[in-house]
Amino acid sequence: MSFLYSIILYFIIIPAFILLVIRFTIRKLRGKVDLTNEVDVSGKTVIVTGASDGIGKVTAEEFAVRGARVILACRNLQKAERAVADIRTRTTNGEMIIMHLDLSSLSSVRKFSSEFIEKYGGGLSILVNNAGVLNAAGKRKLTEDGFEEAFGVNHLGHFLLTNLLLPELAKAGEKNLSEPSRVVIVSSLAHTWGSLNFNDLMYEKTPLEDWRMMSKLYSNSKLANNLFNLELAKRLRSGKVNVNCYALCPGIVDTNIGKEDMMNNPPPVYVTKILFPIFKWVIMKDSKEGAETTMYCSLSKYLTHQSGEMYRNCEFWDYSKRPKLSEKDATKLWEMSEKLVKLN
Ligand SMILES: NC(=O)c1ccc[n+]([C@@H]2O[C@H](COP(=O)([O-])OP(=O)(O)OC[C@H]3O[C@@H](n4cnc5c(N)ncnc54)[C@H](OP(=O)(O)O)[C@@H]3O)[C@@H](O)[C@H]2O)c1
Ligand SMILES: *[C@@H]1O[C@H](CO)[C@@H](O)[C@H](O)[C@H]1NC(C)=O
Repeated sequence: MSFLYSIILYFIIIPAFILLVIRFTIRKLRGKVDLTNEVDVSGKTVIVTGASDGIGKVTAEEFAVRGARVILACRNLQKAERAVADIRTRTTNGEMIIMHLDLSSLSSVRKFSSEFIEKYGGGLSILVNNAGVLNAAGKRKLTEDGFEEAFGVNHLGHFLLTNLLLPELAKAGEKNLSEPSRVVIVSSLAHTWGSLNFNDLMYEKTPLEDWRMMSKLYSNSKLANNLFNLELAKRLRSGKVNVNCYALCPGIVDTNIGKEDMMNNPPPVYVTKILFPIFKWVIMKDSKEGAETTMYCSLSKYLTHQSGEMYRNCEFWDYSKRPKLSEKDATKLWEMSEKLVKLN
C-alpha cells in the first residue's frame, strides 16, 4: 500500500505539481495587450497575409472586432472562406475581404498589389506580414520563380509585397502625423539560429544536414525577416515617410505550421500522445495568445515613436546586442533582394 502511495506521489503528484508551477509562472511572465492604449482602426484598411489559419486568422478577427476593413491575403480561397465564416459566427463588426495572394509566386504578389490598389487604394494603415512556411523536414523545395521555398515565401514574397504597397502605406500615414502606418513582420526566435551566406542564399551549395531544433532554411528566412525590418526602418526614416515597422516573435504557438511534415514522418506514439500534449499544456500558447504581440505591434500607442525594433510577449525585445543583425548585412540583403524580385 505504501509502495503504491510512493509511486503515485513521486511519479504523478510531484511532477504534475512542478508542471503546474512552471505553467503558471510562464503565463505570469507573458505581457498582455493593453486595450486602453490602442490606435483606433475602425474604418481603416489593413492587410493580413496568411489569414486563413493560425495566428493570421486570429489577427484578422481581432481587427474585424475593432471595426477595421480587413483584407485577408490568402493562397487558398476556399480555406479563407471557411475562416471568414467561422469568424462571422463570433463577430459582425468590421469588413472582411478575401483576396488571392500566393507568396511563392512573384507574379501573384504583383497581381495582388495592383488589384488592391485599384479596388481599395486610398491608404493602407497596417500591413501584417504573417504568412509563413516552416519546412520542418529541412528538404529543399522551390517556389515558382526558383527560390528556395522558406526564403522565397517568408522573406522575398513579403519583401516585394511591402515595397509595392509602400505608396499606399505612406498615403495613410499622411492623414495624421501622430498615427504612422505600420508594417508588422511576424518573425521568430528561430532567427537566432540562422546565418545567411550571401554567396548561397538559395542554399544550393550548403549541405542541408546542418540544422538544430529548427530547419536551417526556416531560421535563415526568419533572420532575413529581421534584417529586412532593420533596413526598412532606416529607409523609411531617411525618406521621412510616416510609416513605422516592427518585427516580433509570437512565442511557441499551437498552430498547423510544420504539421504537414510531421504527418509525413510521424514521431513515435509516446511523443504524440504523451510528451507533446504535456509540452503543449505547459508551454505553448493557443492562436489567440499567439496573436497578442502582433496586435500590440499593430496598435499600441506606446510604439508610435519606435521603428525597426523587435518585440515578444507584448514587450520590447532588445536586439541591438545581437551580432547577427548587422546593419551592413541588412543593406546587403536589401540590395540582393531588390535584384532577385526585379524591383528596379
Ligand atoms: N506557431 C509558432 O510557434 C510560431 C513561432 C514563431 C513564429 N511563427 C510565425 O508565425 C507566422 C504564422 O504562422 P502560424 O503558426 O499561424 O502557422 P499556420 O497556422 O500554418 O499559418 C500560416 C499561414 O500562412 C499561409 N501561407 C503559407 N504559405 C503561403 C504562401 N505561399 N502564400 C500565402 N500564404 C501562405 C498559410 O496558408 P494555408 O492556410 O493555405 O496553408 C496560413 O494561412 C509564420 O510567419 C510563422 O513563421 C510561428
Ligand atoms: C490623430 O491621432 C491621434 C493619436 O492617435 C488622435 O488622438 C487624434 O484624434 C487624431 N487626429 C485626427 C484629426 O484624427
